[in-house]
Amino acid sequence: MSFFLTTQGIRILQILVASTVILTLFFSVSHFSSGELRDAARNSIAEHVKVGSRGPPEPKPANATLDFQEIIYLSMPYRTDRQDALSLIAAVSGLKLTMIPGSALILEDDVDWDVDIRNIMGKFSWQLRYNNTLRWGKNVEQGWKEDCPYGCDWDEIFVGQCGGKPNQNRLDLHQAYTDPASPALSTLQPWLQKEFSTLWNISESANTRVISPTWEPICLMGYALSRMGAMRMLYNIGGWRPFGNPVDNEIAWRTSEGVLSGYTLSPPVFTAWRVGGSQDSDNDAGLNAKPANTKGNIEGYSRNLKNGVRKSLPEYFKKDFWNGMEGKRVDRLET
Ligand SMILES: *[C@@H]1O[C@H](CO)[C@@H](O)[C@H](O)[C@H]1NC(C)=O
Ligand SMILES: *[C@@H]1O[C@H](CO)[C@@H](O)[C@H](O)[C@H]1NC(C)=O
Ligand SMILES: *[C@@H]1O[C@H](CO)[C@@H](O)[C@H](O)[C@H]1NC(C)=O
Repeated sequence: MSFFLTTQGIRILQILVASTVILTLFFSVSHFSSGELRDAARNSIAEHVKVGSRGPPEPKPANATLDFQEIIYLSMPYRTDRQDALSLIAAVSGLKLTMIPGSALILEDDVDWDVDIRNIMGKFSWQLRYNNTLRWGKNVEQGWKEDCPYGCDWDEIFVGQCGGKPNQNRLDLHQAYTDPASPALSTLQPWLQKEFSTLWNISESANTRVISPTWEPICLMGYALSRMGAMRMLYNIGGWRPFGNPVDNEIAWRTSEGVLSGYTLSPPVFTAWRVGGSQDSDNDAGLNAKPANTKGNIEGYSRNLKNGVRKSLPEYFKKDFWNGMEGKRVDRLET
């Protein structure tokens, strides 16, 4: 099942793409098979959840499309620098991304994620599917028969917000769970430190993530849409009704109004990767005005990740062939 765009939809997407390139997590509610994990090395999951013999299955890493039908990213055709970087980190992480050239939206093409992304998303999906106390209260087993990754009840899932807030009147609606890949509080950006310490009243975020109902998130660095969610957005925002504000604000306001709903994961797991200078922008004026004089990805940085995959590449690709050959001579090789 694929998501189709109306003219209005394409218009929104064009607006979204105007500033940068984007990538999308999509999924359709109609059919899901539990994807076989290709990579045996990724099959081990650090934390085993104790459940009875009649309980839900154990969490397992998400598949190469993070259990969504597809991960789509949108990239301006000329940003081959960003496309190359994204291909590299996707391959290293065992992810499969599909690029849509030109105009469209939903994970931005300048994001970073943790080396452990498939376990992170696998645990998150497991919580929404088998331990969703936000939705079911204590009777989480009501959801066990549903067959959707991340559960079947959401329009949108925010995993790449760069700010925003939860519903201050319903702070009770949140749940914390263990994730060994969640970074320490002291390493988080101030807005996240504040969220954990003053809203969730959690004094340490290491090994802990919080799920809450989406309220007013900022940024569209990474988010998922269900098919129904995509249609609801087009209906509520996409030109069907008047629409004159930045699209992330529109989504936030429609969500706090309650006509769209979903979940927000905190700390977010897709975060902005910055290299400095004009390369951080797709804005033509910016690009024309300045030479691309950055050091590329080598000295770039991201925040709020424990082990960002981009920073892991030097170690991943490390090789020192000639030094390794030092002192070795064919006639001296031991047999
Ligand atoms: C991952 O799982 C989803 C949901 O079951 C499925 O739609 C998708 O095709 C799978 N991806 C891969 C690469 O197998
Ligand atoms: C299920 O969710 C509750 C919070 O709502 C949490 O306390 C508990 O640790 C979770 N269970 C597992 C196995 O993660
Ligand atoms: C955290 O503490 C503040 C101040 O006491 C309170 O207003 C807020 O509701 C608490 N949050 C939760 C999730 O209980």
